Amino acid sequence: MKRFKNFVGVVALLLLCSFFTDCKSKPTETFAVGKGTFLLNGEPFVIKAAEIHYPRIPREYWEHRIEMCKALGMNTICIYIFWNIHEQEEGVFDFTGNNDISAFCELAQKHGMYVIVRPGPYVCAEWEMGGLPWWLLKKKDIRLREEDPYFMERVKIFENEVGKQLADHQLSKGGNIIMVQVENEYGSYGEDKSYIAAIRDIVRNAGFTDVTLFQCDWSSNFMLNGLDDLLWTMNFGTGANVEEQFVRLKKMRPDSPLMCSEFWSGWFDNWGRQHETRDSYAMIQGLRSMLEKDISFSLYMTHGGTTFGHWAGANSPGFSPDCTSYDYDAPISESGQATTKYWELRKMLADFNKGGQTYEVPEPLPTIAFDKVTFDEVAALFENLPASQHYDSIVTMEECNQGWGSILYRTVLPKIEGQSSLTITDPHDFAQIFIDGKLVGTLDRRKGEKTVLLPSVGENAVLDILVEAMGRINFGRAIKDFKGITDKVELAIEAEGGRRELELTGWEVFNLPVTYDFCKQKSYTSQPNATVPGYYKTTFTLNDTGDTFLDMRTFGKGMVWVNGHSIGRFWKIGPQQTLYVPGCWLKKGKNEIIVLDIVGPENASTEGFETPILDMLRNPQPVTHRKEGETLSLKGLKPVATGSFAAGNGWQEVKFNKPATGRYLCIEAVGAQDGKQLAAIAELYLLDENGKRLSREPWRAVYADSEELRGGNYTADKVYDLQESTSWRSAGGAAYPHQLVIDLGSVQTITALQYLPRMEEGAPGSIKQYRVFVKEEAF
Ligand code: GLA
Ligand code: CA
Repeated sequence: MKRFKNFVGVVALLLLCSFFTDCKSKPTETFAVGKGTFLLNGEPFVIKAAEIHYPRIPREYWEHRIEMCKALGMNTICIYIFWNIHEQEEGVFDFTGNNDISAFCELAQKHGMYVIVRPGPYVCAEWEMGGLPWWLLKKKDIRLREEDPYFMERVKIFENEVGKQLADHQLSKGGNIIMVQVENEYGSYGEDKSYIAAIRDIVRNAGFTDVTLFQCDWSSNFMLNGLDDLLWTMNFGTGANVEEQFVRLKKMRPDSPLMCSEFWSGWFDNWGRQHETRDSYAMIQGLRSMLEKDISFSLYMTHGGTTFGHWAGANSPGFSPDCTSYDYDAPISESGQATTKYWELRKMLADFNKGGQTYEVPEPLPTIAFDKVTFDEVAALFENLPASQHYDSIVTMEECNQGWGSILYRTVLPKIEGQSSLTITDPHDFAQIFIDGKLVGTLDRRKGEKTVLLPSVGENAVLDILVEAMGRINFGRAIKDFKGITDKVELAIEAEGGRRELELTGWEVFNLPVTYDFCKQKSYTSQPNATVPGYYKTTFTLNDTGDTFLDMRTFGKGMVWVNGHSIGRFWKIGPQQTLYVPGCWLKKGKNEIIVLDIVGPENASTEGFETPILDMLRNPQPVTHRKEGETLSLKGLKPVATGSFAAGNGWQEVKFNKPATGRYLCIEAVGAQDGKQLAAIAELYLLDENGKRLSREPWRAVYADSEELRGGNYTADKVYDLQESTSWRSAGGAAYPHQLVIDLGSVQTITALQYLPRMEEGAPGSIKQYRVFVKEEAF
C-alpha cells in the first residue's frame, strides 16, 4: 500500500514539476566550478550555506527555519539524506510527510535558496548508524562502506530512489540543487578509492548528471581517497586556523575554489558528558576570515534541531551515546529561536552582502509552559510482556528482526551457593539484571561493564536480563554495532570443589520495540506513586499551543511519546533534562503523554517549561579521570622517549629509540611551547612494529592530572575520539608538568607516537618538552 502511495505521489510530483518547468519564465541558471571560484550564471559566487536536517525539524516548521537561514544572510541550504529513515524496512521506501525531501527542496527554492545534497549512503551526523539501515546487519559478515556486493546493491537501489525524488530539482532542470556530495569524510574510515569511485557512479547514475559532485574530508586525510574528477572540500570547526586548513589543498590543486563544507558552529552532546558550547566570537571570526578571501562555507549546524525518536547515534572509540537535543550551540536554537550568536552572525554577514537585499527575521514561534501533571496510569513492563520466542543460544536484536528498543532474555539459573558472577559478552547497551524479579545489577556499556556479582539462589530461580539499545555507533569502524547481547552469557561459581564456569543456554526472548502502537496497547491501570520499570500515561489540557520543554527530571531512562509523536530519549544522568515538544504536535484541549521508563521513575510527573535544561549533569561518577587526592609518581621510571615537539599546527611523529612493550602509556607534558600553563592534545596514535597505527577501540583514559570542563568537555578521552577538532586540555591555571595515562586494553609493542596539537592558530596549549613512559602494570 505504502509503495503504491509513493508511486502515485511520485507520478503526481513529476507531472507538477514538468508543468512548472514548462511555465517557468525565469531562464535556467547555471552553476560551475571555475578557476579559483564557483560560478553562478557565469559570475563568481561564494556559497554561504546553512546546514539543517529535515528529520530534525517538524515539517510544519521547515519553512520557518528556511526563512530564518535566509534572514541570517545565507544563500544555500545544505542537507544530508538519511537512508535509514526512508527505508526502515528493506525495500519499503517512504518519502512522504516529514521525509518529503522533494517538498523540502521546493520550499527552499520558494525562498530563493540553493540546495546542496549529501545523500551518503553514510552521513555520520550523530545519527543512528550514521544513516545506514540496521537491517544491513542481518547479513552478519557484511562489510559496511566497502565494496561488499550486498551493501553496494542496496546503496544503488536507495540512491536511485533519491534520484527519483531529487534529480529533477537540479539547477539545469529549473530546480535549485547546485552540488551533490559523494560519501562522507571517508578519510577517517578507510582508504579505498575504488569504493568511492563506485559510490560516485551510483550517485551519477541515479540522475545527478548535471551537478558538481564533491567529496568532503579533513585537511589531514583528504588525499587518501580524493578522486581526480571530484571537487574537494575541507571540514573544520570554530577556532581552527583557516589558512592552515587549505595549505595542502592549494598546493595540490591551485585552481580549485575553496570551501569549508562543514564549519562546526558548536558541537553535539553525549549522555553523561558536559554540555558543549563554542565561542560565538571565534565562530564569527572564522567565517569572516573565510569571506574576506571569498572562501565558500556551510555552517554545520546553522540550526541543529532535535534527534526525535530513536534516531540519535553514538560515538566511539568507547561507546558514547548522543543526546536527543541537537541544539549544537548553533545560531538558531533547538526550538528555532534566534540566539545571540544568530544576531551577531547576521550583522557580520551583512558586511559581505555587497549591497544585496536583506531579509526580515521571521517572528519567533510562540512558547508555552504548563503545570505539573502526574502519571497515574501505569503498565508495568514485566506484567505486560509480549509473546516470547525460544532460542538455545543468545541471539542479537538483529537476529530477532528487531531494529530498536529493548530486549529481554529469560532463563532459569542452576542452584547457586556462595560467590558467583555473571559475565555478559557484550551488553549493548544498558543491561539490568533481575533474579526472580529483583534487580541485582546494571551494566553500562559506556563504562565497559560486563560482570555482576550474584547472590545465592535456590532451585529454579529466574534470571532476566533486560537490555536497552541506544543509538548505533555513527562514527569510525565500530558502526557495525549489533544490539542486545552480542555473544554469550557466562556464570562463574566459586564452590568448595573449585571454580565452575558455564555458559547459560535455553533462553526465552521477548522483543520490546519502541513504536507508539506497541506502547499504547499495554493494559494501563491506575497506580499512583508507582516506581517500577514500565509505561506511564497521562493527559493534560491546553488552552493555547506553543513550543514547550518537558521536564524529565523525575524519570530514570527511556523514551517519550506526545500525541503519538516520539520526541526522543531521556536519561537522568543528563546533561539534557528536558525534551523539546514542538507546538505543532500539541492540540488545544486534551493531549496525551506516554513515557517508557526502563528503570522506573522517582515519582512520575512532568511539567512544561518555556526554556530547556541542557546542561545539568547528574552523573554518580565524575567525568574526569583523577580520583580525589590521587597523584602520579614517575620517580625512578625510565622514559621510553623524551624530546621536544615542534611548534605549530599539524601532525608530528616521534620514533622511539627501541620498541617499548606494555599495557599502560603515560605521556608527560614537561613544558609548553609558549611558556604558559595550558597543555592540550587533540589526537594521539601509537604505531606498532610494522609502523601501523594501533587500534584505539580498547583504549581507556585512566588518569589525567587536570582536565578543563568550563565551556566544553576537554577530558582526557578526547585524545582518542577520532575527532581532530576536540582535545584534552589541562584546566585553566593548573601548572606544568601534566600527565595523561592510557590503558591500551592489552600489552602492546609500540615503536612511535603521533601527536596532533589543537587546530587553532598558534596551536594553543601545544607541548614542547615531553616524556613518554610505558609499563606492563598500572602506574
Ligand atoms: C563530521 C561529520 C558530520 C558530523 C560532524 C560532527 O564532520 O561529517 O556528519 O558528525 O562531524 O558534528
Ligand atoms: Ca580529539
